[in-house]
Amino acid sequence: MKRIFFIGYMGSGKTSYGKVVAERLGLSFVDLDIYIESKFFKSISTIFSEKGEEEFRKIEQRMLHEVAMFENVLIACGGGTPCFFDNLEFMNAEGTTVYLKSSPAFLANTLKNARQNRPLLRDKTPQELQQYISENLAKREPYYAQAKITIDCDDEPENVIEKLLQNC
Ligand code: S3P
Repeated sequence: MKRIFFIGYMGSGKTSYGKVVAERLGLSFVDLDIYIESKFFKSISTIFSEKGEEEFRKIEQRMLHEVAMFENVLIACGGGTPCFFDNLEFMNAEGTTVYLKSSPAFLANTLKNARQNRPLLRDKTPQELQQYISENLAKREPYYAQAKITIDCDDEPENVIEKLLQNC
């Protein structure tokens, strides 16, 4: 039985690489944010603005526990998922955690046109974006670094996919 959790910062490719790797490994694919949205009939942005981040993190933890019961699955987490409660320890106990690691410059470039659905980034100007990512990533890195596997994703997509397939 395989259960893989992709973790990493927003824009690191958890969803896009997750879909490809899941298909190549013959696993089901679940995106935790999409799972939450389909359960609550609301976008992540709406949940954030109606209930606040604290409540979102509680929902996220509950939904993580639901999807972690699935078998032969690759789960793409939200960027913050491993950084709250005991979520990281929980994932390490339930499956294989894979950190998709990217630099702030690489992430800022990817995220500059993909901020709208991300409540934590939406209000940042392009100038503020890389600074915010650097600071926020530094706080999150100690959690991400506890993943069982780390893959350097500042690379061409085909190389990243190859590395993921070799290591997952
Ligand atoms: C978040 C990342 C988002 C989503 C929410 C909060 C974060 O997921 O869960 O906006 O705290 O990093 P993606 O990493 O899929 O963008």
